[in-house]
Amino acid sequence: MIPDLRHPAPRHPRAPRRLAVLGSTGSIGTQTLEVAALHPEAVRIVTLTAGRNWKLLAEQAREVRPERVVIADEAAHAPLAEALAGTGIEVLAGEAAIVDVAPEADLVVAAIVGAAGLRPTLAALCAGVDVALATKEALVVAGALVRDACEASGAHVLPIDSEHSALFQCLVGEPPEAVERVVLTASGGPFRDRDPKTFASITPEEALDHPNWSMGARITVDSATMMNKVLEVIEARWLYDLRPEQVGVVVHPQSIVHSVVEFVDGSAKAQIGVPTMKVPIQYALSFPDRWPAPFPRLDWATLGSLDFHAPDESAFPALPLAQEAMRAGGAVPAALNAADEVAVQAFLDGRVRFPDIPRLVEAAMDDARGASGESLDALLDADARARAFVRQRLV
Ligand SMILES: NC(=O)c1ccc[n+]([C@@H]2O[C@H](COP(=O)([O-])OP(=O)(O)OC[C@H]3O[C@@H](n4cnc5c(N)ncnc54)[C@H](OP(=O)(O)O)[C@@H]3O)[C@@H](O)[C@H]2O)c1
Repeated sequence: MIPDLRHPAPRHPRAPRRLAVLGSTGSIGTQTLEVAALHPEAVRIVTLTAGRNWKLLAEQAREVRPERVVIADEAAHAPLAEALAGTGIEVLAGEAAIVDVAPEADLVVAAIVGAAGLRPTLAALCAGVDVALATKEALVVAGALVRDACEASGAHVLPIDSEHSALFQCLVGEPPEAVERVVLTASGGPFRDRDPKTFASITPEEALDHPNWSMGARITVDSATMMNKVLEVIEARWLYDLRPEQVGVVVHPQSIVHSVVEFVDGSAKAQIGVPTMKVPIQYALSFPDRWPAPFPRLDWATLGSLDFHAPDESAFPALPLAQEAMRAGGAVPAALNAADEVAVQAFLDGRVRFPDIPRLVEAAMDDARGASGESLDALLDADARARAFVRQRLV
């Protein structure tokens, strides 16, 4: 699934690589455009897509001048087309159009949030186009299908998630059989030190206030419940072909050590840096090279101490769901993701309390046990069933 890290093939691009940015209006998408703007000789953006935010999409398109833009919300086609009239930029609408255009590039940045990012990611990989992957849900929902698509077409996945990019960077030059286990670091989110007895009174505003990272709403709430780490453990299992027990989690409040690989000889490598997504985004674009960039540097003299401790599974009951979902397999990880998407939105809408999120997810996982996860249709059925399951339980 990932490129050969033992002997990475050098890249000698004669022309800028043609880039499709799926989810360009989101947190990762906008940062991808900022990174790409630093390297016009290496990267040319040909496609931008968004869900509903046609105004920002139009603004980005006027700036970047892609060949085409796609908005998932068909009702937004008319105002978007009007905003881009006379530019020569093709304007398309609908989720199917995103899937159709995804492979029209040399490299796809997959940064759509949620299971909606699965089909375009698979379309690119099936067509043999490499994907720089932020959309972790694609691997959580359909890791085996993504792996099979890569094997059949020869396409590769390059991780954008900071923890997975850290592992990727640590693994360059190493033989896969030398890996004993990996440890994903977790900031612990805004409620790391809060009394769990008060979790029922957590407000959406408090959950959206992450101490170290500025991100989209779903991943920010997922960081607060630590469900984000659950998704990341499953993501790591697929990306690096690991057994469930080879993926561990440690809380590291400063978010300076982005993750660790432990090797069979007792040595360990960590990747370290200021918490900014621009470094992993750029590395996914530049691999196996590194491009100079003005991103913030660590100040070693003032860094101070770095802390690590075991996560508290009684305060954050989402965490054990990672191992449960991986061991159950089938449709259970798809149900986990779908249930979480609905539960997080329900929390943001004030319809459930913070501790209800992992409870609803676990119940939807139980409901999905035994269901097939062998085909895309089966997984999408499980996704729909889990969404309906949670919606029926909302007050
Ligand atoms: N943000 C981070 O720092 C970070 C770090 C690591 C991994 N990730 C992962 O990266 C992905 C994106 O996260 P984010 O924080 O950038 O999310 P975000 O800010 O919410 O942006 C999501 C993007 O997806 C688009 N979108 C939403 N629903 C869609 C649909 N049904 N069809 C097509 N497009 C749709 C949105 O368009 P609109 O703007 O029009 O709604 C937006 O462009 C997630 O999988 C997340 O877990 C994010």
